[in-house]
Amino acid sequence: MVTRSGILEGCVSVGMPRTAAELTLLFERGSELPADRSVLLCYDGPDYEPEAGSAFAVDVTVCWCNGVTVGAIAESAEASNTSVACIGAATRAGTGCGGCAMRIGEVLERFATFGSTP
Ligand code: FES
Repeated sequence: MVTRSGILEGCVSVGMPRTAAELTLLFERGSELPADRSVLLCYDGPDYEPEAGSAFAVDVTVCWCNGVTVGAIAESAEASNTSVACIGAATRAGTGCGGCAMRIGEVLERFATFGSTP
């Protein structure tokens, strides 16, 4: 990572898709990096697990490349976009690195099961 005044100006990430996606989002937004930058490395750790019960909250980001949340996917699914490809066309989720495709599928599955996100 290359930073100036806590703002990410460049980075290289190899074999760490979630970290890379988070860094891309921070880069695009010009957001300040967390004080403890090692937190960013945890996203690809073997023990990374989103908090139980909150993984499907509407404000949880599913696609880090494009900043698409569970709520946006659920809303798109309500408009009959019920496949990962349709969600990609409607929201751009999954159209970057593609690392979130399985997660988009999980959100769609949950939407199909429960009709909406809790
Ligand atoms: S996280 Fe890269 S395309 Fe969704």
